[in-house]
Amino acid sequence: MITRPAADGPHISMSPMSHQPDSTSFLADFRLQAHNTFGFDVRARLACRVEHEAQLLAAVRDPRAAGLRRLVLGGGSNVVLTGDFDGLVLLVALRGRRLAREDDEAWYVEAAAGENWHEFVAWTLAQGMPGLENLALIPGTVGAAPIQNIGAYGLEMCERFASLRAVELATGEARELDAAACRFGYRDSFFKREGRDRFVITSVTFRLPKAWVPRASYADIARELAAEGHGDTSPDAQAIFDAVVAVRRAKLPDPAQLGNAGSFFKNPVIDAVQFDALQQREPEVVSYRQPDGAVKLAAGWLIDRCGWKGRAMGAAAVHERQALVLVNRGGANGAEVLALARAIQHDVRERFGVELEAEPVCL
Ligand code: EPU
Repeated sequence: MITRPAADGPHISMSPMSHQPDSTSFLADFRLQAHNTFGFDVRARLACRVEHEAQLLAAVRDPRAAGLRRLVLGGGSNVVLTGDFDGLVLLVALRGRRLAREDDEAWYVEAAAGENWHEFVAWTLAQGMPGLENLALIPGTVGAAPIQNIGAYGLEMCERFASLRAVELATGEARELDAAACRFGYRDSFFKREGRDRFVITSVTFRLPKAWVPRASYADIARELAAEGHGDTSPDAQAIFDAVVAVRRAKLPDPAQLGNAGSFFKNPVIDAVQFDALQQREPEVVSYRQPDGAVKLAAGWLIDRCGWKGRAMGAAAVHERQALVLVNRGGANGAEVLALARAIQHDVRERFGVELEAEPVCL
C-alpha cells in the first residue's frame, strides 16, 4: 500500500509556470489576512509563494529558513491562526489540471494542489466528466481536499480519489500515495496525523467513473431538486451541482463576505449504549446509525439545542443559519473564536455528555 517515489519532471503539463526558478524569494513579516478564510489579521515571519515544485525544496533548504517551523497554506480554509506565525509559510500556488488518462471504466483527472476546488469541480463537469458535483462550492484548494477528506451531501472525496503526489520535506523526494496510504476517515487522513507537517501535497488525481450514478438522496438536495422540477425525473450532474450550490448559498456563509472555516466541529460519533440513553432524554436528537452500530450525531443540532445559534462572544459568533459554523463578524481574532468554541463545547458536554472535536487545525 505505501508510497512509491513519483516520476520526475514537470508534472502537470498545463501549468503556466513551468520554468525552474533559480532563487527563492522570501517575503518577510508577511500579512496572512487574505490567506485564511476566517480573515484573521496575523503575520508570518517569512512566506514563500510556491508556483513550482522545485521552489518548495529550495525554500525549506534555504539558510534563512533553517530551524523555522513551517506551515503550508492553500486557501487557508481549514485553519485557525490564533496569533502571528513565527516560521515559514509556504503559499501553495501550483496550477494546472488535465485528463491524465482514461480506461473503459473511468477518467483519471489530475489537478495541481493550488487549483481552487470549486473551479476544478466546475471544470470537470464542463469537460463532460461528472462525479464531483456533490462537492461543489467547498472553499479551499485541491491540495487541501485530501487532508481532511472533504465531504458533503452524501459524498466524500475519498470515493473519487485515485492517488496524490506529495513532496516529503525531510528528503525532498516526491512520492505517490494511494488511498490506502492516505488512510482516509471522516474528515480525517494520514496528513492530519502521522504525516502532519511532513509532506506537501502537490497534485491530486481523481477517478471519475464513466458509469455515472446520481447521489441525490440527501434531504436538502432532494428538496432543492424537487423545487427545481426534478422531482420525478432523474437529475443530471449539472442539476445536482446547481442544487448543491443553492443549498450551500442558503445555509453556509461565503468566506469572502463573512470569515469562517466551514463546519467548526466534526459530527461526534458515540456508541449505541450512550446513544440509547441520550435518545431517551432527547427524543428529537438528529442521528445517523453507522455500519458498525455506532451513531453519528448532528453537532449542529446539539449546538442549536443549547441555544448557541446566532449568538456572539465579541466579534466571534455562531452562524445564524447553521450552528456548526463559527464566523468572524469583523475584527475577531483566533483566540476569540477558540474561546467561543470552548464555551460551546462546555455546554454540549454539560447537556448531552458529548465531546465536540474541532474540525480545522488550530495553530
Ligand atoms: N441542524 C440543526 N441546527 C443547525 C444545524 C443543523 O438542527 O443549526 C440539523 C439539521 O436540521 C439537520 C442536521 O442537523 O437535521 C444536519 O445538518 P446539515 O444537513 O446542515 O449537515 P451537518 O451534519 O450539520 C455536514 C458537514 C458539512 C456538509 C453537510 C452536508 C460535518 C462536520 N459537516 O454538516 O460539511 O456540508 O453535512 O453534507 O460533517 C464542512 O465540513 O466544513 C461542512 C460544511
